[in-house]
Amino acid sequence: MKRTKIDVLGSKRMNVQDLDEEIRAEVQILGALDIFTDAHVLGVTKTTTKICEEMEVSYEFLKHCVLCAYLHDVGKIKVPSEVLQKNGKLTEDEFKIMKMHTVYGYEICMEYPNFKNLAPIVRAHHESFDGSGYPDGLVGNQIPFEASIIKVADVYDALTQRRQYKEGYKQSQAIGIMLDDARKNRMSARIMSYLINYLLREVAARIEEHENNIEQFKEQLSVLHELETIYKSIYDRGYTKKSQRKLERYNLSPGYDMSTNANLLTAKQKALEKEREWLEFCKEEYKTLKKQLAEAVSLGKKEKWYPNISY
Ligand SMILES: [Fe+2]
Repeated sequence: MKRTKIDVLGSKRMNVQDLDEEIRAEVQILGALDIFTDAHVLGVTKTTTKICEEMEVSYEFLKHCVLCAYLHDVGKIKVPSEVLQKNGKLTEDEFKIMKMHTVYGYEICMEYPNFKNLAPIVRAHHESFDGSGYPDGLVGNQIPFEASIIKVADVYDALTQRRQYKEGYKQSQAIGIMLDDARKNRMSARIMSYLINYLLREVAARIEEHENNIEQFKEQLSVLHELETIYKSIYDRGYTKKSQRKLERYNLSPGYDMSTNANLLTAKQKALEKEREWLEFCKEEYKTLKKQLAEAVSLGKKEKWYPNISY
């Protein structure tokens, strides 16, 4: 199969707002809408977009990749539902049928003139650099570049998405599992390094948000503690002009009293502790992802890269 030629122009960071609707309208002609509202398909599309943005690809190429991401599993509409929706492990025969979704997806895309150029990408999204993938056992850069991007997004989303029967992995755990595959030359570490870069910025933003929340909660708690002191003095010494003046400063609503204050204090204290836990969690994630990025970059350098791609 011939590799699709790609034009990666690079340089400008893309703004992808409004892109979805345009692409959805195009995709709707396939008449398989439930596939496109599936959380996994949307997750893969989002991750694909983020990887592409991180690569600073051209707008045209970004749109093309997003469309591939929407369509990557379209062949599943031809997989019997008892296989597609089976709870639990598939038998060998069932897995053979499931694997056919790549071929079905190819055939569906080939039927539409607008999607013909996407067909080889949809077909190849489960291929591996080492030839162990399916359906054609392609090796290295026989696999279309876009299919390698979709594969990274697909595996990442499958690992991190929360499902009915199990919790998703945390980001660094998912990347850890994927790095294992990259070490075995089954997925592109170089594409992964772009994903990790995006995750690092996302986690950094979350760290900042938690730090801001902690500051806000601390300020609110200091006010609540002050009010607690005022209420205690009213309780001990009765309602004095001084305490009344102090209370007035806080513009409290009628009915606000000592127990309301105590409840609020407990709630805010709990919220503050939760924020601190999240902050610690995010900082740990950041540290691990940073190490993983270094490994992905060094593995990526050894990777036989797509000859026509430069950015
Ligand atoms: Fe798939």
